[in-house]
Amino acid sequence: MITLKRPTEIALMRRANQIVAEILDDLVVAAKPGVTSLELDRLAEELTWKKGARPAFKGYKPQAVEYRHSLCVSINQEIVHGIPSSKRRLKEGDIVGLDFGVCYQGYFGDAARTVAIGDVSDNARRLMKVTRDALYAGIDRARVGNRISDIARAVQSTAESAGYSVVTDFAGHGIGRKLHEEPQVPNYFRPGMPNPRLQEGMVLAIEPMINEGVAELEILADGWTAVTADGKLSAHFEHSIAITAIGPEILSELNHNV
Ligand code: MF3
Ligand code: CO
Repeated sequence: MITLKRPTEIALMRRANQIVAEILDDLVVAAKPGVTSLELDRLAEELTWKKGARPAFKGYKPQAVEYRHSLCVSINQEIVHGIPSSKRRLKEGDIVGLDFGVCYQGYFGDAARTVAIGDVSDNARRLMKVTRDALYAGIDRARVGNRISDIARAVQSTAESAGYSVVTDFAGHGIGRKLHEEPQVPNYFRPGMPNPRLQEGMVLAIEPMINEGVAELEILADGWTAVTADGKLSAHFEHSIAITAIGPEILSELNHNV
């Protein structure tokens, strides 16, 4: 069942996602060569409590192994769900996916960005740009009367026309009182997939994961970290958006007036 959110609920989700965006901004500043991914996780959690929210990912257990951290830090060939570690130091040339969510007054916010550590290769920079462009192409299709497939196809065609592949093992999702709600928001579309029509009041987390090489992935022995099967780079961008009568509202984009 897809839950439609009332304006009062969207206002709370706007606040939850503004907290996510503010914290991601601080993490981007902190993500410098020499910093460990665990230090970023600690910073994210500390800022979350300070803002009156709680970390959304910590204690999450959709599968065998519970997620024990507040932030996912996915470096280079890691696609998503990289686990923070005191042994993992960022270095010049890395690209780092920062995926973060909070729960605020019962409502979830979820967003991700991939950032460059110092100078990165032209390849890496182009992959990040195309993935971000794919997210925004998908968001632009998130309009009343369109379908999930309109979002999915816009993401896929942006990535594939640049020569990249779309990860199909993970998808975006509805979001609200739970981190993951219906509908699934895949980044590709095949006939026969569930394809609901988009309605006013839906809130979706759209999150393309785009690989430089093959789409296939492996999960590391930690039970979480997804890495590219060919060891090539991957990038991930995510926004939580509300579908309104006048178009998509990006709840997780920082708006200084809120
Ligand atoms: N943005 C990711 C998602 O929606 C983050 C989940 S990480 C987890 O699935 F640890 F909470 F699973
Ligand atoms: Co998400």
